[in-house]
Amino acid sequence: MLVDGKHYRTIWRDGEDGVLVIDQTVLPHEFRITRLCTPAEVCHAISSMIVRGAGLIGATAGYGMWLAAVSAPENRPFVPWMKECAAALTATRPTAGNLAWAVERQLKRLADLGPEPCRDDAVALLRSEAERIADEDAEFCRSIGRHGAELVASIARSKGGKTVHVLTHCNAGWLAFVDYGSALSPVYAAFDAGIDVHVWVDETRPRNQGASLTAWELGRHGVRHDIIADNAGGHLMQHGMVDLVITGADRVTRRGDAANKIGTYLKALAAADNSVPFYVALPSSTFDFSLGDGVSDIPIEERDGGEVRRIRGLGETGKTESVLLCPESSPARNWAFDVTPARLVTGLITERGICAASEEGILGLYPEHSGRCPA
Ligand code: MRU
Repeated sequence: MLVDGKHYRTIWRDGEDGVLVIDQTVLPHEFRITRLCTPAEVCHAISSMIVRGAGLIGATAGYGMWLAAVSAPENRPFVPWMKECAAALTATRPTAGNLAWAVERQLKRLADLGPEPCRDDAVALLRSEAERIADEDAEFCRSIGRHGAELVASIARSKGGKTVHVLTHCNAGWLAFVDYGSALSPVYAAFDAGIDVHVWVDETRPRNQGASLTAWELGRHGVRHDIIADNAGGHLMQHGMVDLVITGADRVTRRGDAANKIGTYLKALAAADNSVPFYVALPSSTFDFSLGDGVSDIPIEERDGGEVRRIRGLGETGKTESVLLCPESSPARNWAFDVTPARLVTGLITERGICAASEEGILGLYPEHSGRCPA
């Protein structure tokens, strides 16, 4: 997508031993590019949320495996080193399905080279596979935009061309992927096609991905939007101010249960109570076909309570500050995701089209996964 007229992806290769990423911890007040060269730096970038969002985490892990091969110590056996790096990368964030998926994909490529691969061959193979993962992510998100825009267009038609109001939670725009985004891709495609679209942006405590990232992206693209407090959505729906909800997803089971940023489930309940269509947009890399029941089976990351107790932003001096919101002695708990059961999801917007959030609907689009049953 464009930043000040220049096209950027969120991650790209920099020479033969590094990748460049947009540092999302300093947006929207600073646009900073950071270089990552070692698997340890990649792990830190993922866990500290310099990069975040399911698709981008997956793409970063793909490059992380390439960098593991590039920086493999001469005095260590190669394959055990690669497996150690794979485990470290996978452990950084447990919920996003794309992370383990990308690492597994790279381990399979490595295994194609036999039990004792030549290091240079491994570097070349993992590099091209990492590029393929990133390119695919961008391409899939572009297709999600095409399918989702038809949905927005049909609502616009039914409203006689009046503004379509979309509510979204967290950031599932291009910053959360390699390009285009999942939930925001239909918004961008509809906007580019001349449809009058406006977005209600949930601020998304505790890390405020909505207020700091979604609002920034939409603003750069020229899409009208308003940031709302996390608890405002239900009220807006009761008053007919939301035409549809589109969220992203961090992992979706074969039955259509969707894990997404904490608070998504409450929006889905409010949408169901007010007959507002609730769509989840995701590339196929976010499906976990091995899982059936999302509420019991999707691992939910619990992050440091400090993210709830404090808030970061631009202080009056123009410097980024972190301030304490609560009594010094009050502890806090910080679940990063929740699961919206399939029964509350109107449909899934994927790169292959829109389907029902059900095993039948999903396998109708992805029949190659029919054989694999949940554990
Ligand atoms: O904790 P984050 O910022 O990595 O959270 C992930 C998300 O961005 C959201 O849950 C998003 O809606 C789905 S990921 C595209």
